[in-house]
Amino acid sequence: MKTPIVKIGRLASLALWGAFSILAQQAVGQEVGDHQYTSEAVETGSRVYTQQCALCHGPQGDLVDGIDLSIGQFRKAQSDSDLVGVISGGAAEGRMPAFNLRADEMNGIIAFIRAGFDPEGVAVRIGDPVRGKALFEGKGECADCHRVRGVGPRTAPDLSNIGAIRTPASLQRNLLDPATALLPINRPVRLVTRNEETIVGRRLNEDTYTVQIIDSQERLRSLKKSDLVSYEISDQPSKQPTDMTSDEVADVIGYLLSLRGIE
Ligand code: HEC
Ligand code: HEC
Repeated sequence: MKTPIVKIGRLASLALWGAFSILAQQAVGQEVGDHQYTSEAVETGSRVYTQQCALCHGPQGDLVDGIDLSIGQFRKAQSDSDLVGVISGGAAEGRMPAFNLRADEMNGIIAFIRAGFDPEGVAVRIGDPVRGKALFEGKGECADCHRVRGVGPRTAPDLSNIGAIRTPASLQRNLLDPATALLPINRPVRLVTRNEETIVGRRLNEDTYTVQIIDSQERLRSLKKSDLVSYEISDQPSKQPTDMTSDEVADVIGYLLSLRGIE
């Protein structure tokens, strides 16, 4: 009974795939139109950084204690507007002075930071984590699959600590183009056992003789490979590229980055 259902699901997702790829390409195109994170902005930012910031923060961005600008590790700041606030207002009772930058310089310096100090990198815009949380639980439907801080299903990876282990660029890629962001360990699997049970789920762990999965009923299962008659690992991601606007994606990324373990 289960096999035909799986097949229909696959066909449907393949059919949807084409349509969503076009949407994803439009979303990437929009990234440039909506705001000024062009490679030119990143270049401007690189110049401003060297002149105004490198003295204290160092050429790699990691000289001030507890802060590494190149990997987006700040004290309090999270969103792009937080960064604008720090740069134009100063910090730490004047140990960091307030900067009066032109709009293109300000935009450039944030683009440079968000591109991970890579003049050729892609800058990822980080929006408001509070709006991002609402989108995660509402319109974005992320909470239908993902668990955060003990709430939500276990069928997709738990995201409670995702901000500490992934870069903004990889989070953005997961939303806009999940097919290229898929980690080998997270691949969906379909197993058939000797007693003809078909199990569909997500792989958690694997060694030479066993494989651990979370099945579609959210049960943790450990199976001996010698008990399996078939073991398929899918290279299709379990979800489609998001159809949120680039503003909304920025907010969701802001929220994901704020998830750093249990507070
Ligand atoms: C005179 C030294 C100095 C210069 C120049 C300087 N900073 Fe800072 N910056 C600091 C110090 C010190 C801190 C740590 C503040 C604290 O302890 O909270 C800091 C903190 C920051 C933070 C983290 C703020 C937070 O609370 O999360 C950012 C982002 C930042 N600086 C960006 C910049 C940028 C961009 C420039 C150049 C436009 C710059 N800084 C120039 C000294 C400097
Ligand atoms: C249909 C279920 C589903 C929905 C809806 C969904 N995801 Fe996922 N997500 C997954 C699965 C399953 C994975 C594991 C990789 C894979 O199979 O594609 C994943 C992977 C991820 C990862 C990468 C985890 C890692 O370890 O790097 C992030 C981040 C993520 N999702 C965020 C989101 C956000 C944000 C949303 C809402 C916009 C969302 N997901 C919507 C199922 C879903």
